[in-house]
Amino acid sequence: MVSNVGVIGAGQMGAGIAQVCAAIGKKVILCDIKQEFVDKGIQTITRNLERSVSKERIDETDMKNTLGNVNTTLELSDLSNCDIIIEAIVENMDIKKKLFSDLGHICNDNTILASNTSSIPIGILAKASGRSEKVVGMHFMNPVPVMKLVEVIRAKSTSDLTFDTTFNLAKDLSKVPVLVNDFPGFVSNRILLPMLNEAMFCVMEGVAEPKAIDTVMKLGMSHPMGPLTLADFIGLDTCLAIMEVLHRDFNDDKYRPCPLLKEMVEQGKLGKKSGEGFYKY
Ligand SMILES: NC(=O)c1ccc[n+]([C@@H]2O[C@H](COP(=O)([O-])OP(=O)(O)OC[C@H]3O[C@@H](n4cnc5c(N)ncnc54)[C@H](O)[C@@H]3O)[C@@H](O)[C@H]2O)c1
Repeated sequence: MVSNVGVIGAGQMGAGIAQVCAAIGKKVILCDIKQEFVDKGIQTITRNLERSVSKERIDETDMKNTLGNVNTTLELSDLSNCDIIIEAIVENMDIKKKLFSDLGHICNDNTILASNTSSIPIGILAKASGRSEKVVGMHFMNPVPVMKLVEVIRAKSTSDLTFDTTFNLAKDLSKVPVLVNDFPGFVSNRILLPMLNEAMFCVMEGVAEPKAIDTVMKLGMSHPMGPLTLADFIGLDTCLAIMEVLHRDFNDDKYRPCPLLKEMVEQGKLGKKSGEGFYKY
């Protein structure tokens, strides 16, 4: 039974994960590397909850209770007694490996270490932690409060107890957990990201303007959102990081990141979060 949840990374995913856990009464500690990032996470949660109150999905008391369940910290050691820690930091293998190694030292023996990584094999993070049976993937979709799916990724080393606890937590959050085995990009991003990458090649080669490409996929394929809008929402840095993992780990050029994507990330055009990507925000 999970009572205390640690969430590391207070960005768009971490804030959403903290919010949904706090909303069902879990005690959440949200951790980031700078106070301004933690503050931004709390602002995101507050804004989301205010919107839900205005739409009469929840009332003021629910909002107050949810916010009251979230504490913040800059110290990893404050998470040492959590039942589960859900990591949602930047999509960078070396940084995540270092974090899992630190968590392996800091946390009590029963703490489950879950990663919200979009693409990095869970087995690699499990090995880095030194407690591989306690490591699992818990891949939420963006925006977390809205999207139903959670891929629960079982590495070869993940114990039954770790897997079952994580799977049940996702159910308690009113999500639909799906068991996925440990391959780069899992199911969601192995299928989605090559499509977004191909849409970027279409822009680069002048096949059509971004808005036209998005319109084709929305009206022609009944996608709720065009691929370039979606890429902007995910974050172009995250999209590039995922394509690099797929390209490297499958060693197959069909996954090569679009040069335009690389160029935009180098220019700091990261999508919605930086104010500009394929569109301006
Ligand atoms: N954006 C999406 O649509 C999406 C969807 C599913 C999964 N993910 C995954 O979730 C993770 C986070 O993505 P995001 O979009 O929220 O990114 P983001 O850039 O919005 O937030 C990342 C946060 O992590 C913090 N951080 C970085 N290093 C840290 C460390 N060592 N310790 C503590 N905090 C640290 C940063 O300060 C930042 O606040 C990534 O692994 C990403 O692949 C993203």
